[in-house]
Amino acid sequence: MRSMTENELTDVVVERYRATPDARLQEILLSLIRHAHAFVRDVRLTETEWMKGVEFLTATGHMCDDKRQEMILLSDNLGISALVNMVSAGVPEGATETTVLGPFYVPNSPQRAWGESILLRDSDEIPLIVHGRVVDEDGTPLPGAGIEVWQTDSNGMYDIQDSSQPEDNLRGHYTANEEGRFLIRSIRPTSYPIPTDGPVGVLLRATNRHPFRPAHLHAIVTAPGHQPLTTHLFDAEDKYLDSDVVFAVKESLIRKFTKNEDPGAAERFGLSGPFWELDNDFVLSKARS
Ligand SMILES: [Fe+2]
Repeated sequence: MRSMTENELTDVVVERYRATPDARLQEILLSLIRHAHAFVRDVRLTETEWMKGVEFLTATGHMCDDKRQEMILLSDNLGISALVNMVSAGVPEGATETTVLGPFYVPNSPQRAWGESILLRDSDEIPLIVHGRVVDEDGTPLPGAGIEVWQTDSNGMYDIQDSSQPEDNLRGHYTANEEGRFLIRSIRPTSYPIPTDGPVGVLLRATNRHPFRPAHLHAIVTAPGHQPLTTHLFDAEDKYLDSDVVFAVKESLIRKFTKNEDPGAAERFGLSGPFWELDNDFVLSKARS
């Protein structure tokens, strides 16, 4: 048996996987093998470098537990999560754009009442009111739609990163009323660094990249018969909008948080002083058949 060339090896490996019964899995695997082999040939990867990569991925896996998702963080930092979102979102014109889920989502956060605050600690910060409607592409309100939100506290940390915060601080589910309206009370989000105490931090330092994400409120919006929407609302005044460490900013998701000092408006929202206000409609697209 004669020895193979580099390209012949790739062909042999691809052929060995061609019997994969699931057609989509076969397509993904064959392409993955071709691209991974091309990468190895392209950079002339050494065995030492490959072992370093294996050790890096192993450390990334070891960093994961039920609260820390270093793998998602790695995917986010390589722009893969943003690219997957781009190629798979398929949001029609007029519907709210989607973006990445991020590593700090926690399912089953508590239900919040109309206008109830998701900030579960005492605070003298100016409150934030986020209000608007959930509608379909025709502007028809979607009563009963679910609006799940989460964000960091003013120290730039999510509750699951920071044991000093109450459990489920700054996260919760709201339900749209019969007009499709919702009313969320919170505080204005801040920009924050992603965790840098693990392998992703090593990667950032080795590549001279800053770890910051621009301030944002995460949301998952759902309604029967409609495509679930996973998105962010970004603060238009944030200095990291152009250099989000996870590449997730989309122009259409940037919002102006306005300061409302009208006492009458404050009273309508059950507040006693000035507040930040964000008036935002979520537009859902029809479920794909
Ligand atoms: Fe976030």
